[in-house]
Amino acid sequence: MATKRPLLKLSHVDTHYGPIPILRDVNIEVYPGEIVCLLGGNASGKSTTLKTILGLVKPTRGTIEFRGERIDGLPTGHIVARGISIVPENRRIFPEMTVLENLEMGAYLRRDRDGIEEDLERVFQLFPRLKERLSQLGGTLSGGEQQMLAMGRALMSRPSLLLMDEPSMGLAPVLVERIFELIQQINRQGTTIFMVEQNANMALSIADRGYVLQTGRVVLADTAQNLLQNEMMRKAYLGT
Ligand SMILES: Nc1ncnc2c1ncn2[C@@H]1O[C@H](COP(=O)(O)OP(=O)(O)O)[C@@H](O)[C@H]1O
Ligand SMILES: [Mg+2]
Repeated sequence: MATKRPLLKLSHVDTHYGPIPILRDVNIEVYPGEIVCLLGGNASGKSTTLKTILGLVKPTRGTIEFRGERIDGLPTGHIVARGISIVPENRRIFPEMTVLENLEMGAYLRRDRDGIEEDLERVFQLFPRLKERLSQLGGTLSGGEQQMLAMGRALMSRPSLLLMDEPSMGLAPVLVERIFELIQQINRQGTTIFMVEQNANMALSIADRGYVLQTGRVVLADTAQNLLQNEMMRKAYLGT
């Protein structure tokens, strides 16, 4: 990994909400092709990290590079156009829009009709259930289907880096397994994944590496295998 250039690199990132410090000196690197997870307890700053990458929160210190170029300070639309998209916390699909309209929203920055059609087909291959429900309103889908729709929508901007905020939240265990299989499949098709999870066991079972946040600081960074063995991890996050 050390010889490759990181796809995403956060260097010494601080963020604040008003005067309140949230992230403190965060350093994270994600390499092309990896699945990297960001773990940590409630309110440790995981979602804030994703929002900062996407330009929804501006860092008060530090830099964020994507493909070696600074993206901190860019508007979110520009960051998405460069190849980063997000499956947000609690899915946040558009409940009053149909499945197809939700998917099309994911491609709103694109003008390449043929490419969009190709990506729709790819989404239908990954999620056949969505194809069966094209005209159903998003809000009437089950939780698992909404998660698939949120993933499909995020893929419609053809991202090279997919950010995911707690994809397992609120889903039954069998669906969580299915979603994690799909994340692996998306990764194998060439999309790099940076994923926030509370379900550390599950996330580490598919990740290459992980970072652990505590009150806005990275306190551990290691391979998934080492994190699964780590004493502090086992006590605090893995329940083993
Ligand atoms: N828009 C906001 N304004 C003020 N404080 C916020 C805002 N969003 C999150 N916070 C606070 O920032 C801290 C980190 O939140 P968050 O990044 O959502 O944590 P996590 O995703 O790890 O649960 C929490 O204390 C939360 O209350
Ligand atoms: Mg969160």
